[in-house]
Amino acid sequence: MNKKIIILNGSPHKQGNTSKLTASFRKGAEVSGNTVTEFHLDSMNINGCKGCFCGGKDFEFPCVQNDDMNKIYPIYREADVVVLASPLYYWNLSGQLRTAFDRLFAVAECNPDYSNPKKDAVLLMAAEGDEFDDVLLYYKNLMKHLDWTDLGYVLAGGVMMPNDIEGHKELEEAYKLGLSI
Ligand SMILES: Cc1cc2nc3c(=O)[nH]c(=O)nc-3n(C[C@H](O)[C@H](O)[C@H](O)COP(=O)(O)O)c2cc1C
Repeated sequence: MNKKIIILNGSPHKQGNTSKLTASFRKGAEVSGNTVTEFHLDSMNINGCKGCFCGGKDFEFPCVQNDDMNKIYPIYREADVVVLASPLYYWNLSGQLRTAFDRLFAVAECNPDYSNPKKDAVLLMAAEGDEFDDVLLYYKNLMKHLDWTDLGYVLAGGVMMPNDIEGHKELEEAYKLGLSI
């Protein structure tokens, strides 16, 4: 309740399965009185991290690159909860999401010890199959490394084309997860 939530949506489909999960989650989270901001990363101009270790240059826009991450940084800074939303691509998060996430390193660079701001997190995913083990291990390790808290995840398998998720129980699960925040 009364939390600020940022959704980083790494699907290229604005009406696809991942986006239907984020819409359900969002609905629940807003009913609970939270504020939600969603970014559709695929339609944004976000470059890969250059690995220059020159980030943290200023609090508001910490990266040396000047692109659409500058729309994300201020919202990310204020967010209590970060939602990672993605289709399963080669048993991992999509490149769009991984690319944006790498760029959050510039925020950690604001701290001399590169410590990340403390956040809670949620994982929402869709896939044709149901082999989520690898990405779930990655997500859980990421939480450990960043010292973030996992609030839960919804993994919708058996969905291929953008509308396949209609009527699937995971939409209700995503709604309830949003409601619980
Ligand atoms: C490049 C690519 C890689 C994919 N890799 C996997 C995979 O490893 N496992 C799987 O079950 N589905 C895989 N899929 C299928 C998508 O995860 C699935 O179609 C998903 O529902 C798409 O979600 P969206 O509608 O949000 O884009 C892949 C699809 C693409 C385009």
